[in-house]
Order: sequence, then structure tokens, then C-alpha cells
Amino acid sequence: MVTPHGGTLVHRVLDGEQREKWLEKVSDFPSITVSDVTCADLVCIATGIFSPLTGFMNEQDYRSVRDYMRLKDGTVWSIPITLPVPEEQEEIIRHAEYLTLKDSQGLILAVVQVESVYDVDLGEEAKKVFGTDDKNHPGVARLDGQSSLYVGGAVWLLNRPNFGVFAKHYYDPVVTRKIFAERGWNKVVGFQTRNPVHRAHEYIQKSALETVDGLFLHPLVGATKADDIPADVRLKSYEVILREYYPTERVFLGVFPAAMRYAGPREAIFHALARKNYGCTHFIVGRDHAGVGDYYGTYDAQKIFDQFTAEELGITPLFFEHSFYCKKCAGMASYKTCPHPSENHVILSGTKVRKMLYAGEMPPPEFSRPEVIQVLINGLREKQTVF
Ligand code: ADX
Repeated sequence: MVTPHGGTLVHRVLDGEQREKWLEKVSDFPSITVSDVTCADLVCIATGIFSPLTGFMNEQDYRSVRDYMRLKDGTVWSIPITLPVPEEQEEIIRHAEYLTLKDSQGLILAVVQVESVYDVDLGEEAKKVFGTDDKNHPGVARLDGQSSLYVGGAVWLLNRPNFGVFAKHYYDPVVTRKIFAERGWNKVVGFQTRNPVHRAHEYIQKSALETVDGLFLHPLVGATKADDIPADVRLKSYEVILREYYPTERVFLGVFPAAMRYAGPREAIFHALARKNYGCTHFIVGRDHAGVGDYYGTYDAQKIFDQFTAEELGITPLFFEHSFYCKKCAGMASYKTCPHPSENHVILSGTKVRKMLYAGEMPPPEFSRPEVIQVLINGLREKQTVF
């Protein structure tokens, strides 16, 4: 089984007596209500998805990750994982030993040991992490709306947030590792997505599966930008496509609770490392992975892997060219394998597909499986009637 990033799978979830003891003490600590993004990060840290992180980054790790894509000790890490705290509470926080973290419903989630309290330049973070400080970029916009005062320190998770409809497909890395081992999978390829599975996704997943033992379909269900298809609607589409078109004994569906950053290349590294912690040996990186708009070049998220050695990454990226259905080939292909001119290629932008779905129109079957489309149209229609 692949070694977790940094060597050990982190586990900072308390239960039993230890949890009870902490729960009795938490009311003595200043408390902070955290955003959905922080709540998701907390779960990812505590359950080992973000191993070797044991808490939110202290100033040294933050600066090192932001500037060099490495933790202070040299371990590769490409996205700052931080705890922004309200500036009005700075004095109280600076004097506190621990903070209690609550979600927006008031549920006590965790305690964090206050090891480092530091101010950051959010503009600089945006430029380095996202490659832009344009506020139209959804990652930059999120940063822009948050505090620039960060707390670093180890966390202990006391209660997991309510995973709602995602609970049935939620697995900690320790569990997926066990499942992959039980299935006898030595080589497992992870697939990140924030979209419904369309034909190009299916093509690259199945091409990868030809050379490994199992596919871990691992859609992100944390916060995404408002116009992405909601994760609960997507989830139904994954269940349908797996049932109808995939070999169930060689595919496993789980949800990835982290928030989407839209950091393109840096997020591709981060996504790969997290999937390594889940037990994947390989990770798919296609066109414009974790990209948005025109901020990144089509293959930047593949090129960034050249900056690290295979040993320090510890997971093998599988790169795929832009794929599509070609009418002349009468099948799925990519710019690498198809000799025909572009008028034969069925390519639709994400924006166009979303518009069609919201209007109840079916994109062509060469683009997406009709069963998937039907589930999406129904799901989106239900949402609209709720609003
Ligand atoms: S992402 O933000 O999660 O990367 P998306 O769900 O669209 O977005 O992509 C999931 C994975 O499939 C990424 O690795 C992406 O690069 C890849 N991908 C998406 N569409 C294509 C395509 N048409 N051809 C090749 N790879 C693709």
C-alpha cells in the first residue's frame, strides 16, 4: 500500500473519554464560527486526507508553501491550509492557548491549539497561489472576502459536521485503504471531478483503468462556485453512470469533502497528494485540471509536476490530452490520437452545457450519457421549484 504523504496517516479525531474531557473544557476557550471551507479543511486535516498536516499552517509553513510549494521541512505541499480569524478578536486570540471552532449551526467541531497568530498579505497570496489577483477569479474572490489574520496550530476534531446526502459515500482514508487492500488492488487510479461525468471523463477514466487494478471515482463535494452543478445533484448522476456503464468490481465511489480552490496547477498537485493519502497510486490529470476561465494554460496543471521528483510526490500522475467524441473516428479520441479536423469533434463548453441543462435541453449523447443528463435535468428542475 502506498505510503501516506510525509510518512504517516494523520488521525486527530477524538472519541470516548478523551473527547468527553475536551467537550467539558471547550466553553473555557474563545470560540470562532468557521466558514464551510474551513470546516471542510478541518475534517480533511483530522482524518488524514491532508497528511502530513496536523493542523492549520503556522506562519513558517504558510510562507514556505505560498512561496516554494513546500512545507518548512521541504515536504511538497502546494496550497496554504489556513484558519482565518476575525480581526476584532485579535487581542483575545493572541492571549488564548486554545480556540473552539464551531460551524454555522453552532455545532462544536474542534479545538485548535494557538501556536502562531499572523497577518498576511492576501493580494500576495492570491498572486502566488492562483497566479492572479483578479477578483473575478472565484478563488481570489473568496480570499478577498476573508480576514487576513491567520491562526496556525494543531487541531483535534470533536464532532464531524453533518455530511447529509453525502454520508453514504463518505470514507476516511484509513477506510479506503482497507477497501482497496481487501479488493486486492495494488494500483489504484484516483479521479477528481467537480462536474457530472461526461463522455470525455469516462474515456480517460477507462483508458487509465486499462492499466491499473481499480478506479477511485472521487468527486469533490465541498464548496464550489455558485454556477457549478450542485454536488447533491451530481451525486445521483454518478450513481446512475456507475450502475449502467462501469464494472462495479473495479470501481469505487467516494466523496472528497474538500472545497474547490480553482487554483489550476497548484491544485492538481494538492489533489494528487490528497488522493495518495486515500491509498491511490495514480492520479488522472486531464485538460485544465481545476482551472476556471482562461487563467491557466490547457496543460499547465500537467507541466507543474515536472517541478518535483517522483519520490517526493509518491503518486504517479497520468496525463490525458483534451478528449472528445469524433464523428469520423466514430468514437472517443483526443488531439493526440485523432487525425480529423475539428468540425468532426463534439466539444461543448461547461457554460453551454449548464445553460442547456437548466433549460431542460439534452446535450448530444456523444457528449454525455442520456441517463446522466436526465438525472441532472430532473435534479436541477427540483432545485428551481424549491427556490
Ligand atoms: S476539475 O476542476 O475537477 O478538474 P472537471 O470535473 O471538469 O474539473 O475535470 C475532472 C478531470 O477531468 C480533470 O483532471 C480534468 O483535467 C479532466 N478533464 C475534464 N474534461 C476533459 C476533457 N474533455 N479531456 C481531457 N480531460 C478532461
